[in-house]
Amino acid sequence: RVDKRGCDHIFFIGFLGAGKSTLARNLGGLFHRRFVDTDRLVERRAGKSISRIFAEEGEAGFRALETEVLRSLESQRSLLVSCGGGIVETPENIELMHEMGYCVYLDGDLDDSLRQIRSLKNRPDFRSPEHAERLFRHRAPLYRQAADLTVDIRGRTFEEVSYRCAGLL
Ligand code: S3P
Repeated sequence: RVDKRGCDHIFFIGFLGAGKSTLARNLGGLFHRRFVDTDRLVERRAGKSISRIFAEEGEAGFRALETEVLRSLESQRSLLVSCGGGIVETPENIELMHEMGYCVYLDGDLDDSLRQIRSLKNRPDFRSPEHAERLFRHRAPLYRQAADLTVDIRGRTFEEVSYRCAGLL
């Protein structure tokens, strides 16, 4: 593998509810790599929750913060990064991720995502199943294009997906 800008991060991308954070956190624990979540970094930078950022600054404000957060990761090494589901909406983000490391797309079903979202409840960004379906269709090709590796998570257990991703570490 090429050491990209000395960073060598692994970015997990995919639709909300795909399990990016859980996977990245667990792999981080197993392989002693630091784990970060772009949503939490955005909240920390803004000093407020994602839902408040959306309410007060709109999606554009949120996306601008997301890009700032990605840029800030250049000063760090070997992170496992769980990315917000909309990270691929900003072309600059895709460039930044490729400059700093590798993108792993957790490719799942919309229905599984919806089930997961419903069970989590605290999803202020989640408006309706119809809206989610539109986003899903729009983003699937963007994730696929951005991905260095696509992991099909349909019908796979968490252990199976982890095992596949662990091959990268
Ligand atoms: C978003 C997904 C969320 C979060 C924000 C917007 C989206 O991240 O970044 O609410 O546009 O799909 P997760 O995919 O980590 O839930």
